[in-house]
Amino acid sequence: MLGGMSSMRLSWTNELSVGVAEIDEQHRDLLDCFNETLAAAQTGSKDVVARFFESLGDMASAHFAFENNLLDSAVPQEAAHRDEHVKLLDEYGKLIQDWAAGDIHVREVLRFVAIWLVRHIAVMDVPSFRRDTLVTDQSSLSL
Ligand SMILES: [Fe+2]
Ligand SMILES: [Fe+2]
Repeated sequence: MLGGMSSMRLSWTNELSVGVAEIDEQHRDLLDCFNETLAAAQTGSKDVVARFFESLGDMASAHFAFENNLLDSAVPQEAAHRDEHVKLLDEYGKLIQDWAAGDIHVREVLRFVAIWLVRHIAVMDVPSFRRDTLVTDQSSLSL
């Protein structure tokens, strides 16, 4: 049964905040879209789920483009961060193909997305975009 997938639902926590309003809002929207996709995977037809996956991919793609515009050489992990955006979309696309072909369960795609959403925000987005806050804190300490 698919009931066990409910435990994959994602909730926003303050630890995920990067301190940039637009980015935080986009991250919340991504989590919401993921939860809707999860719900569709439990009750909807494969066509419906495929449309949710497409929306989620489009949303992630637009979000990564937004972040890439804010990344420059002064941002920690700039190159690795851009690379990870490319790899995540690439891997996601492959998983969707495998799922559409019936080679893997929808759970595998969802698990991948759940892990990368939270992990990428915590490991890449927070260190990259909280930089200004850290710099401000540091300079105020040296005053
Ligand atoms: Fe992000
Ligand atoms: Fe990112």
